Amino acid sequence: MIEIRPIKSDEASAFLSILVECFGLDPARAKQAFHSDPLFDINRKWALFDGGDIRSILTVTPLLFGWGRAIGIAGVATLPAHRGLRYGERLLQEVLRSAERAFEAPSLLFAHRPELYERVGFHVMDEVVSAEIAASENTSINHPMPLPEIKAIYSKWSEAHPERLQRDEARWRYWNWFHRPCERWGDGYVCLEHQLCREVVLVPGGPSWPVGRNTKWLGLGHMADQLQVPIGHRAHEMYLMGRGFPGRPQMFLTDQF
Ligand SMILES: CC(C)(COP(=O)(O)OP(=O)(O)OC[C@H]1O[C@@H](n2cnc3c(N)ncnc32)[C@H](O)[C@@H]1OP(=O)(O)O)[C@@H](O)C(=O)NCCC(=O)NCCS
Repeated sequence: MIEIRPIKSDEASAFLSILVECFGLDPARAKQAFHSDPLFDINRKWALFDGGDIRSILTVTPLLFGWGRAIGIAGVATLPAHRGLRYGERLLQEVLRSAERAFEAPSLLFAHRPELYERVGFHVMDEVVSAEIAASENTSINHPMPLPEIKAIYSKWSEAHPERLQRDEARWRYWNWFHRPCERWGDGYVCLEHQLCREVVLVPGGPSWPVGRNTKWLGLGHMADQLQVPIGHRAHEMYLMGRGFPGRPQMFLTDQF
C-alpha cells in the first residue's frame, strides 16, 4: 500500500539515509546539517512509503514574496531500486495538493533536468548561471558590515518590488547559518563567500566590481541582467522552475533551498 505524508521524528534517520545515498553526501556532515538547519521542520519532510518502507523523499521550504506565500521544493529523491515507478511524481503531486490546501500553492524548485517537474505542472522560469565577474583594480574595500545594516538594506530592496523574496526571522537565521561576509559598497553591499558572489544589493553599477580576481557570480540569469553584473560568457548551471507563480521571482542564490 502506498502512503504519502510528512515523516514522523522516528523516521528521520531513514529519510536522511535516502538523502545521503541519492545525493552522495557525507553521512556525518549531512546528519549534522539536517538537525541544525534553522529552517528544519519535520512536517515539511515528506516521504512516499510502500508497505511501510520509505521509497521517495523531498523537503519543502516556506518562501515569502511581496505578493504572498509560496513553497520551495528540494532534495527530491527515490531509492535507485525503485525509480521509474512514478513514485517521485506521486510524491510531488501530493505535496502540491497539500500546499494548495495551506494557501501556499505557488511553488519553485531548482532542477538540472526539467522533465519530471514538467509532468506535474512546473515550467522553466529562469536559469542559474555562473560567470567570472570583471574585477576592478581597486579591490581593497574592507568594510565588513554588521548584520542589522545588511538586514535593513536587504529589506528596503525586497520591499521595493512584489516579486522579490522577503526574509523573515527564520530565513535570516538560515542566511546567517553560514558565514556570509558582506562588504559595504556605495549605499549597499556585496556578499563575498571566498571567490563566490551570490548576493549584491543596491549596486552602484559600472564596468567592473570591487571583488577579487577570479570571483565568480552565481545567480539567476535575469537577476544578472537587472543588476548589470559585469560578466562575459555565462555557463548554465540549473533551471529555476515554477508552478502557479505570479511573475518571475527575484532572489539571490544565497537563499537557495
Ligand atoms: C529524479 C528522481 C527523484 C526521479 O524519481 P522517480 O521516482 O524515478 O520518478 P518518476 O518515476 O516519477 O519519474 C521518472 C522520470 O523522471 C525523470 N528524471 C529522471 N532523473 C531525473 C532528474 N535527475 N531530474 C528530473 N527528472 C528526472 C525521467 O523523465 C524519468 O522518466 P523515465 O523513467 O521514463 O526515464 C530519481 O531519479 C532520483 O532520486 N535521482 C537522484 C537524485 C536527483 O537527481 N534528484 C533530483 C534533484 S533536482
